[in-house]
Amino acid sequence: MQHKPKVTVVGSYNQDLSVRTSRMPVRGETILGGPFITGPGGKGSNQAVAAARLGAEVAMVVKLGQDTFGDQAAANLVKEGILPDFIFRTQETHTGVAFIIVDDTGENMIVVAAGANNLLTPQDVKAARQAIVSADVLLVQLEVPLETVDYAVHLAREAGVKVVLNPAPGRLLPDDLLGKVDILTPNETEASLITGLPVGSLDEAAAAAEHLRGKGVGAVVVTLGGNGALVVDAAGARPIPCKRVEVVAGKRVEVVDTTGAGDAFSGSLAVSLAEGKSLDQAVTFSNVAAAIQVTRPGTAPAMPYRAEVESAL
Ligand code: RIB
Repeated sequence: MQHKPKVTVVGSYNQDLSVRTSRMPVRGETILGGPFITGPGGKGSNQAVAAARLGAEVAMVVKLGQDTFGDQAAANLVKEGILPDFIFRTQETHTGVAFIIVDDTGENMIVVAAGANNLLTPQDVKAARQAIVSADVLLVQLEVPLETVDYAVHLAREAGVKVVLNPAPGRLLPDDLLGKVDILTPNETEASLITGLPVGSLDEAAAAAEHLRGKGVGAVVVTLGGNGALVVDAAGARPIPCKRVEVVAGKRVEVVDTTGAGDAFSGSLAVSLAEGKSLDQAVTFSNVAAAIQVTRPGTAPAMPYRAEVESAL
């Protein structure tokens, strides 16, 4: 295709404060950990960075506080080549912050203090209408108010723009919103939270996905960590396994930090679909993007570039 694929993201930014530990603490316990890293995060921003690094023209609709973290966030989005026109600022509260613990296996626990993300309004989205209706794909998550997500999806849908919703953090969603989503990308936990159904096996994941399709979702891609993803659409259910990425840029790698893997996947999926790839091709590409992302610490800074994904494929 000639033009750059165009992805517009409506979503969150968090400053990630991430500490490594040998294991997760239990309730009431203090443990010693480290090292500590901090950097740009937030599901919306991570996905926007992933999409930009993979070659899309990206606009992001986001709200930051008037504080140091907000200044750093805005500078980072610009550095990543993301259109800055819809980076809104507020004096009313702080920039979003995420407290992250990553254990020795690379698994994580996260608590988010949403701050300015909670103040991203449908009015802000309206100001970015042109960026949404002219996109190939609208990419949204659930770290900003649901009415804001819903309005963005409504604008995209009206204009015939493909909608990818990464339903994270997981929660119950109104049928009306689900009915406007082309592709939903929950992980297993989120698929269970959205449907109220158990999701502990491939068959259960397929049943939850069918349940969501029954509510009008076009296709459901349930991400399965290192096992790839399960795609469920009108053609049925099929697992698409993840190619193990053992070497990046000539160096052997292992799983270091799974935080942001879902963001790498959804950002990559949006780009691939915006390029006109089939859903199965897009999932294969996104599996590899996520497999590379987990080999590095942090979230947005760990997102892979196009050449890395293509060479690993
Ligand atoms: O998906 C990972 C992200 O979740 C982190 O960057 C953190 O900010 C939370 O939003």
